[in-house]
Amino acid sequence: MKGLVLSGGKGTRLYPLTYTSAKQLIPVANKPILFRVIECIRDAGITEIGIVVGDTEQEIRRAVGRGDRWGVRITYIRQEAPLGLAHAVKISRDFIGDERFVMFLGDNVIQGGISNLISEFANSDYDCQIVLTHVDMPEQYGVAELDEQGRVVRLVEKPKDPPSDLALVGIYMFNHHIFEAVEHITPSWRGELEITDAIQWLIEHNYTVHPYIHRGWWIDTGRPGDMLEANSLVLEELTPCIEGYVDRTSQVDSRVIIEKGAEVINSVIRGPAIIGEHSRIINAYIGPFTSIYHHVVIENAEVSRSIVLEYSQIRDLDQRIEDSLIGRHVVIQRSPIRPRAYKFTLGDHSQLGLLGNG
Ligand code: G1P
Repeated sequence: MKGLVLSGGKGTRLYPLTYTSAKQLIPVANKPILFRVIECIRDAGITEIGIVVGDTEQEIRRAVGRGDRWGVRITYIRQEAPLGLAHAVKISRDFIGDERFVMFLGDNVIQGGISNLISEFANSDYDCQIVLTHVDMPEQYGVAELDEQGRVVRLVEKPKDPPSDLALVGIYMFNHHIFEAVEHITPSWRGELEITDAIQWLIEHNYTVHPYIHRGWWIDTGRPGDMLEANSLVLEELTPCIEGYVDRTSQVDSRVIIEKGAEVINSVIRGPAIIGEHSRIINAYIGPFTSIYHHVVIENAEVSRSIVLEYSQIRDLDQRIEDSLIGRHVVIQRSPIRPRAYKFTLGDHSQLGLLGNG
């Protein structure tokens, strides 16, 4: 089997972070989501992986390279415009050939990996296997309707009136018949060739589409809130390990990772949390569900349930930072210069939640 990872798109809902970086490269628990996806596919025994890229191609190539570090071979496939998931399949035909393959959206994080899914599909004669999970807001996803025997009857993309609460997870398995399907569908109201419509075509032409119901968590990390949620869930599953320096006056919980070259001085770290390489935490509190990436300084400040990216500095605050996604090279500190006022240099689409008086 081969793997196909979709890593295009502009990530507009994650502006301003995605002005300067591909959304799939934002780290969750200090590892870019795209790397987690590649590892997930590799762990299922697949070593030939195609990555469909768009405007952020160069950045993704720089970060991922040829795949040697994971023991896989990466082929890049350029999608000239974000014309839909089924369009991505269409342009990947030469790479896939006649093999069965798994397609994985490069911004999805799933609990427990996909090894079981892959072996179930590899040992079956299904033409397609889809992954479904119960969600609270099915109208935001592709939705499946099953019959009483649990067979897929119909799939609809972002229905106003969802036929069930079973959403399509961004992981799909196909054989070569999907290439016929993508030739027969037309763009949806949002101007995209929808993979949901292509699978519906398979159903209507009597190909076997097998539904696999996923029971663990799954997150499609489109928005900042989703990133924080994914970060919390992944942090809970990491194995603690202290490789950096922690001084005697600091208190570090059992569910904490301190990476190489990091220093924790006179601080409290409540797990689950991770402190990245060469970051310095001084007279600070890092609360649960927090990922501090590499080369960050946090001094005389408190941060919880947040992600702080590389080379940022947070100093001398009297209020705790919580539920925040902080980009690269950001400086947050108290200003000693009068007037006593907020002083901001914010990029387009920045979002600031200030404390009210209430
Ligand atoms: C896409 C699919 C949708 C699926 C979702 C999962 O949606 O079209 O069927 O449920 O991924 O992440 P999009 O992210 O393009 O809105």
